[in-house]
This record gives sequence, C-alpha cells and structure tokens, in this order.
Amino acid sequence: MRVLVTAGPTREALDPVRYLTNRSSGKMGYAMADAFAKAGHEVLLISGPTQLEIPEGVDFLPVESALEMYAAVERHIARRDAAVFAAAVADYRPATLSEHKMKKTGETLTLELVRTPDILGSVRSQFGFTGTLIGFAAETQDLEAFARDKLQRKGCDLVIANDVSKPGIGFDSDRNEVLLVFPDHTEAPPEDEKHHLAPMLVREIERIAAEKMAGG
Ligand code: C5P
Repeated sequence: MRVLVTAGPTREALDPVRYLTNRSSGKMGYAMADAFAKAGHEVLLISGPTQLEIPEGVDFLPVESALEMYAAVERHIARRDAAVFAAAVADYRPATLSEHKMKKTGETLTLELVRTPDILGSVRSQFGFTGTLIGFAAETQDLEAFARDKLQRKGCDLVIANDVSKPGIGFDSDRNEVLLVFPDHTEAPPEDEKHHLAPMLVREIERIAAEKMAGG
C-alpha cells in the first residue's frame, strides 16, 4: 500500500524566537511509519518537530506549523491507499506573527489565538480521499465516547484512542494503552510498548484496507 502518516506536535510561532506547542513526542507515529515500512509498504511520514530518528525506508517531509502540515497533506494525499493521522496538531495558533521579538510591556499579556484547520477532518470532505482513514484520539476523559464521535464526524475507519491522563503511557512515553474504536465495535488490547503495538495496528489497518477493496 501507499501510506501517509502524520506525526509529532506542531509549532505555532508567536515571534522569531517563541512558539506554542504540546508534549507529543512523535513516538507513536514514527513507530507506525516504521512498522508500515517493515511490512513492505511505501510510506510518506509528514512530521512536526521531534527528537526522533527518521525510520529506515520511509520518505520524510518535515513541517512546523499546522498550516504547513495541512498543505503537505493536501499535496500528498491523492492516490494513497491509507492515511494515519497520529500528529498532535495545535487546535489554535497566534492570530498574528510578530516580525520582531515581542517586548515586555504591561504586567499581563493577552494572546489572541485563531483556529487551525482540522487536517483529518478535511481529508474526506475537502480532499476527496476514499482510502482507509485512521485517526488518533488523545483524551483525558470519556475516551470511547469522544473517539466514537471523532470516528463518525471525520469519516474514519478506525480511531485509535489513548487516555493521556494515565501516568507512564501515551504522550512522551515508550508505552501505550490503546482502545481500538471501529464503526461497529470497540477492542481493548493490553498495554504494550509502542514498537510492539505498531505492527499489530498495521495488521489491523491492512485488514480494513483489504475489506474495503473487496467490499467497495
Ligand atoms: O479532534 P482531535 O484534535 O482530538 O482529533 C484528533 C485526531 O485528528 C488525530 O488523528 C489528529 O492527528 C487529527 N487532527 C488533525 N488536524 C487537526 C487536529 C487534529 O489532523 N487540526
């Protein structure tokens, strides 16, 4: 299959030296890209800034902001058989980018933020993607309900959900406990290392893609 994977956080600039970001390490997305490549698939990894090594055999496209990631996905989504959205994209970005370093003035500073585009949410509706679509959901409450809502709203075939409030798993960790939310049921595999979970998830995605191709 030809697979697109997004991974990592995004970085939303305020001025030449400051930005807003989040605690995503990119490990889950990179583990997915690596597992797809090892299973013989052609992989494009579109990644925000991380400390990770690029997996072997993967085409790599680095981006910084949500807007750059959106443009990269829009450009590369056509003719992909599957797309996996593991990036932790900022929901808001600073309304303006200051050309020069912002100076301290008053005792408080109010930042105005504006929404970033929902990349995963645009894939079916804006980019016309008909392949296998996988989203991730990082939640701190009502994991399954929020993931199922995301699956339906964004037209996903599977949402891989994890509870980021649990210590030792999820964000910036080597381990993860995921809930697999399918259109008609939910599965809860045991907690494991991201590098062990990823090949299992790749097999699930291969199965969904094969079913889609057979069933139309
Ligand atoms: O709605 P929420 O941000 O929780 O959805 C998470 C899923 O949507 C993840 O798969 C994430 O990669 C994707 N996403 C995206 N673009 C955004 C926000 C989230 O692709 N702006």
